[in-house]
Formats: sequence, C-alpha cells, structure tokens
Amino acid sequence: MPDPHTDNTVTIAVPKGRVLKALAARFARANVDPDVLLSDDRRLVRATADGSVRFLLLKPDDVPTYVEYGAADLGVVGRDVLLEREYDLYVPLDLGIGRCNMAVAGLAGQPPRADDLRPLRVATKFANIASRHYREQRRQVEIIYVQGSVELAPITGLADVIVDLVETGETLRQNGLEVFEHVLEISSVVIANVAAFKLEREPIRRLLAALATP
Ligand code: PRP
Repeated sequence: MPDPHTDNTVTIAVPKGRVLKALAARFARANVDPDVLLSDDRRLVRATADGSVRFLLLKPDDVPTYVEYGAADLGVVGRDVLLEREYDLYVPLDLGIGRCNMAVAGLAGQPPRADDLRPLRVATKFANIASRHYREQRRQVEIIYVQGSVELAPITGLADVIVDLVETGETLRQNGLEVFEHVLEISSVVIANVAAFKLEREPIRRLLAALATP
C-alpha cells in the first residue's frame, strides 16, 4: 500500500475507539476532511484526499510513543494516558472532547469501610494514577494490575474496588457497581513532538490554530 506524503503532510496519531467520531467532527471544523477517519475498514494509515494530513490509527496507549519518537508530528490522546506514564512531549491544546471521569468504584451499596485496617485491594489498568490517589489519602493499598473488563474484579472478589474510567456510567450500572469516589476529570488533548513543535512548520502551526478554535 503506497503511503505518499511530503514535507507538507502533517502526520497525526489518533486513538481507535469511541472518541474517533467526536474527533472527526473537530477536524472537519478545522478544514481537515474527516471521511478517512470514519471509514469502516482495516487501514492503519489514512491520508486525506488532498494529502495534507495522514492519520495513524493506534491503540490509545501507543499514541504518545509514536509522537515522542517523531513517527507522528501530533497526536490526540486522553489525559489518563499521559498521567499514567511520563513522556517527553508538548501538550499544546485540550480539545475538551472524550470527557469522562477517573473514579473509584465497587459493589453498589458496599463502600470500603474507613476503619478496615487491612490494605484495600484495588484492581486497575491505571496503577500509577491509583497509587498516587491513595498515597495522597495515606491509605494502604495493594494494586492489582488488570488490562480490561476491570468491573469483574469486585464481582468475583479479586479486588475490593476498581479505579477506572467512567463515561456514561452504563458499564458500572449493568454490572451492579457504583462510584464511591471521584479521582480526576479526563479529556482528550493534542500532543506534539518536541522537535516538530519547535520548528514551527507552517502546516502544523496552522492546524493547531484551527483545532484551537472551539
Ligand atoms: C472503558 C472503561 C469502562 C467503560 C466505561 O472501557 O474501562 O469499562 O469504558 O464507559 P461507560 O461509563 O460509558 O460505560 P472501554 O470501553 O474503553 O474498554 P476496555 O474494557 O477495553 O478498557
């Protein structure tokens, strides 16, 4: 598959998944044809018809890596990913889309008891965010790393609570869980490769300015 791009092409790493629709709308308003983002196929590199932008479709956790190493000039990623690991990147813009909450949740009606002295067992994909949260509370915890379907952890007794993203709350509700504590507000941000950003290439500068217009 040919991948024609020139020095004027801006390469943007984007996360596959539910934020793509809102992102496409945001690019459309910035005069980037969003059709390639929305087409239902398996291509991982998708250039706009005019060749001005090339999108790389990635798992959210991999977006900062591609941008940090310069395989992409810009990227779009949830703040949760940036808070979980350290990257050498610029974050020039909060898009205000993909809004959700990082929360502590567990079996409905059974919040952990404050006087329970044993370490709380916390299942999460966000081990660092969860550790920081409980360190601030001076609460002893045992972090149990899981990759997905984390809601299963309290149901099966693997953990007392989970720390996870909540958007509509539907996944918690359908699994008999509820939010006990709010941890962080999350939204999607634009990230930029440090060198690409410093060079102030005109197409990147123009695109960032257009995306900044709400
Ligand atoms: C996320 C998150 C929750 C769910 C919350 O998972 O981990 O499971 O979305 O969304 P809701 O509040 O709208 O129900 P995702 O769908 O990204 O899949 P994952 O289990 O692979 O992380």
